[in-house]
Amino acid sequence: MRTNTIYAEQLLLASSSMEENMEKKERQGKEGDELLQAVHAQLWTQVFSFANSQTLRCAVELHIPDIIHAHAGPMTLSHLASKLPLPSSPDRLRRLMCFLSHLNIFKHSTMITPSGGDEREEDAYELTPLSRLLVRGEEKNMVPMVTVGFNVLMVPWHHIIGSLEKSSDNAFKRVFGVEFYQYAEQDAELGVRLNEVMACDTRWTMPGVIEWKEVFEGVGSLVDVGGGTGTAARAIAEAFPAIKCTVFDHPHVVESAPECEDVARIGGDMFEFIPPADALFLKWILHNYGDEECRKILKRCKEALPEKGGKVIIVDTVMDGDDDGAGDEFKDARLALDLEMMLLFGGKERTEEEWRRLLQHAGFSKCRIMPIKSSIHSLIEASL
Ligand SMILES: C[S@@+](CC[C@H](N)C(=O)[O-])C[C@H]1O[C@@H](n2cnc3c(N)ncnc32)[C@H](O)[C@@H]1O
Repeated sequence: MRTNTIYAEQLLLASSSMEENMEKKERQGKEGDELLQAVHAQLWTQVFSFANSQTLRCAVELHIPDIIHAHAGPMTLSHLASKLPLPSSPDRLRRLMCFLSHLNIFKHSTMITPSGGDEREEDAYELTPLSRLLVRGEEKNMVPMVTVGFNVLMVPWHHIIGSLEKSSDNAFKRVFGVEFYQYAEQDAELGVRLNEVMACDTRWTMPGVIEWKEVFEGVGSLVDVGGGTGTAARAIAEAFPAIKCTVFDHPHVVESAPECEDVARIGGDMFEFIPPADALFLKWILHNYGDEECRKILKRCKEALPEKGGKVIIVDTVMDGDDDGAGDEFKDARLALDLEMMLLFGGKERTEEEWRRLLQHAGFSKCRIMPIKSSIHSLIEASL
């Protein structure tokens, strides 16, 4: 009798653990299905991520943010269509706006409007904090960033595989046969757009740079090397009137810089000669180059600086090494910018350690790296 009870208990135990196992398997199966479904959808999203930048560019080139801004409030699709610089099919425009509303570029709602003695419901759109930064004329608008020559800048991305083999590869040069800046010199429209992109980034970055007052203390003269059309040099001259500022860039670039009595302009090639000063400002320059070319530029910098107290003030991106980037809203953009530098110039974004090593090898023994408020870049001060 006793043996039978034990046997029955064992049977019960075995069947309940079988049931548990089946439940577990079913659960795992469901979780596996859900995971598979999620990654499947994620890959679809990644495949079409190019649509984000392309639709954004389309909206800005059609002045949609400007038109909605001027309307001041939710604007119906038909009203928006009537203000566009080109005729558009209402259905196609609605689909574009639907995509951009999904990206939170515009806010979608519906409005009741009169229609031939009756009423109808219409789609309407208004600006969001994102599209407010795409209104022309606003001081910190990012229109140049969104619209810059995609036709040319996208081409090297199609050649990314060929860029992986050699650490010195420059996809842009491989495809177009000339260095990027030589190409930009020939293509006047691209040149103007690039200068606007630089000026746009500089307007975002300089207030945060100027907050580091001690970096500029004791500096009597400063040259902004590769300073483009002088936006940064003018901001420094305005914040620190005692500093004699000069913008130095290719002759055709400095010629197009607006005249400013507080900022001198000198044209030249930084690989050949850099005008002497107490401090040299290099914003968004060294990331265009590999280490060997950076060393050549830094050698010219050293020659231009006084042996005692001379310094370079670098504004460039600093990568976070192994950091997972949690809470860093610029992480994705920095990683993409690193690849952009690789493809357009054979350049790179550097980690803190790589910056310190590069600068130390070039003879700049003291190096400080500081964050810049509201900017993708960091501030690097390196003294001789
Ligand atoms: C990425 S842009 C940065 C412009 C500016 N510093 C800024 O951040 O707004 C690089 C600048 O370096 C200039 N540049 C490139 N090669 C140069 C060279 N060999 N000599 C002088 N300037 C050069 C380009 O014309 C361009 O204006």
